[in-house]
Amino acid sequence: MTTIKDICHKAFVEKFGAEPTMYEYAPGRVNIIGEHTDYNGGFVLPCAIKYGTCMYAKPNNSNQIRVLAVDMQNDYDEFELATVIEKHPTKLWVNYLRGVAYQLCEKFGDRVKGLDIAIKGDVPPGAGLSSSASLEVCFGHLLSSAFNLNVPLMDIALIGQAAEAYIGMKCGIMDQAISANGTKDHCLRIDCKSYGLTQVAVPSNLVILILNSNIKHQLVGSEYNDRRESCEKAASIMGVPLLRDATMDLLNQYKDKMDDETYRRARHVITEDERVLKASDAFEKGDLTTLAHLMYESHESMRDDFEITVKETDGLVEIVKEALGVQKAAVRQTGGGFGGCVVAVVEPQMVDVVKKAVEAKYKAISGIDATIFETTACAGATFTKL
Ligand code: GLA
Repeated sequence: MTTIKDICHKAFVEKFGAEPTMYEYAPGRVNIIGEHTDYNGGFVLPCAIKYGTCMYAKPNNSNQIRVLAVDMQNDYDEFELATVIEKHPTKLWVNYLRGVAYQLCEKFGDRVKGLDIAIKGDVPPGAGLSSSASLEVCFGHLLSSAFNLNVPLMDIALIGQAAEAYIGMKCGIMDQAISANGTKDHCLRIDCKSYGLTQVAVPSNLVILILNSNIKHQLVGSEYNDRRESCEKAASIMGVPLLRDATMDLLNQYKDKMDDETYRRARHVITEDERVLKASDAFEKGDLTTLAHLMYESHESMRDDFEITVKETDGLVEIVKEALGVQKAAVRQTGGGFGGCVVAVVEPQMVDVVKKAVEAKYKAISGIDATIFETTACAGATFTKL
């Protein structure tokens, strides 16, 4: 079978007329629970998935990044490494790279040098599985490894996050942190205030399923930043630096001082943080009933309080719940929201039951088919010298 690695290698040789000397890979992610908590300093529980971004590269003895994007019909861009790197006026894909290079050049100056690069990925775009974070982390880790910059993995993640801000998306740290730090067979509980990382083993009695609604979400838009602003507003009304520092008691004391929407946004985040901690324990123990309960609550909270679900993902969640029963359906929308994927943690023998139920019922709600795949928890960014 031809892999993305093979295709990327071939494209590199064809474009640059030489063999690459290095290879980098960084995965996408799925979040088990903890949505829109990261930029509030809270907790998340993602794992790296079996899809990601790969790059073949070779130093080109210049101060230029020359890059071929196989997935963008072999679109090509080159830019100078300098203390200020301008955004490309039209090519979004290369701005993720420009943003990362900008950060690294600011820190390391001319220790960052030119590379010829071919990129290919297989994270479905617009599915909320962090194709852009995997691109940023892949490139950041490649540059760091190629030129011995020894940037710690969490700093690579922060550089990726800054590249998103450069493009206009004020995201949190979750996606880049897991893409950089993923560990095989483990989820990672991330404390997004201290950046503390706790590995949580995937229990042997459960598997992780991803159900793509095939309703594309587009995060470089105002909805995400609006949610973030509401959270900041709620924190400021309560006089705390971050919603992580608030409790439901405190929020209720201030209920009259904020509008209903701001109150509900904050309620989602505060209750979601509590759910992540409980769910992480239940997951580790393989306690499916408790996990199912918490994940369903998380979905309801995203649907009713944070208002980031769509009828198709709501529908998928209900289909899985109906097929497996409340006790066995640990299922919720995952990622930034407004479409994208649903994640389900289920017993292995239930995978077919879920698939059949979705095949039978999803099209009636959405007019399209869902795509379902199982993933193991995978390793984070990996550099190889060839
Ligand atoms: C996107 C962002 C993350 C996080 C999630 C929601 O994936 O990039 O930082 O906020 O949405 O949990």
